[in-house]
Amino acid sequence: MVDGPVPDDPQSDGAQSDGAQSDEARAGEAQAAGPFAAFQDSIYLDGLLTGEPPAYPTGASALEEAARERLDPGPRGYVLGGAGGGATMRANREAFERRRIVPRMLRDVGTRDLSCSVLGTESPAPVLLGPVGVQSIVHPEGELATARAAAGLGLPMVLSTASSYSLEEVAAASGSGPRWFQLYWPRDDDVTISLLARARAAGYTVLVVTLDTWYLGWRPTDLDRAYLPFLRHIGLANYLSDPAFLAGLSRPIAEDPTAAIVHWAGMFSDPTKTWSDLAFLRDNWIGPIVLKGVLHPDDARKARDTGLNGIVVGNHGGRQLDGAIGALDALPEIATAVGDDLTVLFDSGVRTGTDILKALALGARAVLLGRPYIYGLALGGEPGITHVLRCLLAEFDLSMALSGHTHLNDLNPKILT
Ligand SMILES: Cc1cc2nc3c(=O)[nH]c(=O)nc-3n(C[C@H](O)[C@H](O)[C@H](O)COP(=O)(O)O)c2cc1C
Repeated sequence: MVDGPVPDDPQSDGAQSDGAQSDEARAGEAQAAGPFAAFQDSIYLDGLLTGEPPAYPTGASALEEAARERLDPGPRGYVLGGAGGGATMRANREAFERRRIVPRMLRDVGTRDLSCSVLGTESPAPVLLGPVGVQSIVHPEGELATARAAAGLGLPMVLSTASSYSLEEVAAASGSGPRWFQLYWPRDDDVTISLLARARAAGYTVLVVTLDTWYLGWRPTDLDRAYLPFLRHIGLANYLSDPAFLAGLSRPIAEDPTAAIVHWAGMFSDPTKTWSDLAFLRDNWIGPIVLKGVLHPDDARKARDTGLNGIVVGNHGGRQLDGAIGALDALPEIATAVGDDLTVLFDSGVRTGTDILKALALGARAVLLGRPYIYGLALGGEPGITHVLRCLLAEFDLSMALSGHTHLNDLNPKILT
């Protein structure tokens, strides 16, 4: 994306030409990738032919409402709730709401190409399914459904360490789909090494290290119900299937399941980690490493100077530090600070196709989705997720066209006000 000063070209709005691709090649790719906007036509046409509306809502608020109604109180609080009084969750949305797009006219937007390559991973659109743990609390197929839906559309998925199914099971469901692995960095080095080796062997190509969850945030919605899935053995599949983790137990899980939870709680994270410890991950992971949860430009610079490959600008969807800055408000300064030296990704608060456009305009290479696809999972398993993704991609595609843009390189801060 465009960082720093942009040329004042009235036709391109400062667009960067990639120069390497012919228009014909681009058009061919766009054909293969979509167009995503056609999903809108199919909804109207299906409605005409069947007399039925779409199976799931198409807008963000209705989707959240439907999921709220569908979920039991524990999972509902866990997924929809945030930290503290919800100030950061609100700030995430306000940061998007405050920004507006200034559309341009008569620019031949009949063919769009939304495809991109992020840290060596090809995707038909700059959208990844972000790491969300314990997905079986909203649907029995959990991450397996997510893997199938993501692979069906060719979008990369990021699997959480805290998944309900083991990373090997999810890899099998994902098939040839692109996949990354998110690490909650354990205190126990042997477990870390083992998880990384398993992830690599199972075809996860990029490591995403979450930095904002050394402790669980203060979450009154969960606290008031004393609801934490891990204590019920949910979200521990990667640990309970890990030889290094199991070696740390004095008795088999079946004989003493509570001891396994206590052992897990003791090694899950290590709040004493500092920047210099990242060398350990570099030594034990072949491939790009992304730091997730960066909100300060100096931390982004440190990530770059430490030799990391990317960052996710975000605040864990307002689930960790309540009162933290709205994620989109942190993005422009960070993108300017690191320029093209680091791949800048974004999450926290993305709900619509226009949100994707805004995050890209402010310097993100791609966005990670969180709650919206989990709402789709809750409502309908794999088809529910596919529906949500197709809606978001269609709205993003339409937003590109309606704002006068055909390529991701067209997006820069000047298209917003
Ligand atoms: C129920 C739930 C579980 C999550 N689990 C993880 C996780 O295991 N690892 C992680 O790095 N982030 C996790 N996240 C954070 C997401 O990756 C992402 O940062 C966040 O959902 C973005 O905010 P949004 O959903 O409001 O857009 C979780 C989020 C939710 C809602």
